[in-house]
Amino acid sequence: MIKDGTRVINKKGLLYVAEEGDKQSPVKFKPWLGDSFSALYDFLMKRFVFPRQLDADQDRHYEILGNELKDVHNARVLELATGSGSVVRFLPTDNQYTGTDISPGLLRKAVKVLRRSGFQESACYVARAEDLPFADGCFDVLVCILALNFFCNADRAFEELARVGTAGAMFFGCVPVPERIQRGNAISGTLYSEHELAEICEANGFRFESIPHENGALLYFRAVLQQKASSKL
Ligand SMILES: C[S@@+](CC[C@H](N)C(=O)[O-])C[C@H]1O[C@@H](n2cnc3c(N)ncnc32)[C@H](O)[C@@H]1O
Repeated sequence: MIKDGTRVINKKGLLYVAEEGDKQSPVKFKPWLGDSFSALYDFLMKRFVFPRQLDADQDRHYEILGNELKDVHNARVLELATGSGSVVRFLPTDNQYTGTDISPGLLRKAVKVLRRSGFQESACYVARAEDLPFADGCFDVLVCILALNFFCNADRAFEELARVGTAGAMFFGCVPVPERIQRGNAISGTLYSEHELAEICEANGFRFESIPHENGALLYFRAVLQQKASSKL
């Protein structure tokens, strides 16, 4: 499942990619928000990000995640930007779950959620969405919630998803889009419109389909992998 030539280091339950040429040192990333905020992350999302930035209802968000993920069974699931593991709570535990994020502090929280939820098979990697350490074609379901706007390069992330997904793999995502912002709230990162997201998906071999849920600035969408990313070449 790991890409040829990539070495992985296990440190206290989290998996890190080893630096090239130095097999003992893990690759580190500039932390998102700073790892010291990890303890406050869930509180900030509930009290500040959902109601004030996204104009959205967190309970409604969780209800949507539950509905979209409840029928996913016996699949190899990859999540980009797992954060503290909010999606994990809505995924049936008969799936094989792989989480990724650049923040070890948040991933450590996700590992605890995975243990409590009773997943038999799970792993969390400290890895960038734009440079995944996995071999080609090893995931059936791909998920990315509230994070595409933080990636340096969303197109590159979809290129990676197309590489590691199987043909027919289903992507489920949720991200704020500029056309749904009502009150001129400042949302961090790079915002892509629904049209731009559809273009990024299509350019990487995914068939885009928006899901008609209303929840503030958030767009929920699916994308099915039709062909492999090499078709871009
Ligand atoms: C708003 S949080 C969303 C976390 C989680 N998906 C959720 O729904 O609560 C954004 C996440 O994106 C992660 N992130 C930011 N840039 C990233 C990148 N280039 N690759 C992987 N994860 C990244 C951050 O560490 C953070 O966990």
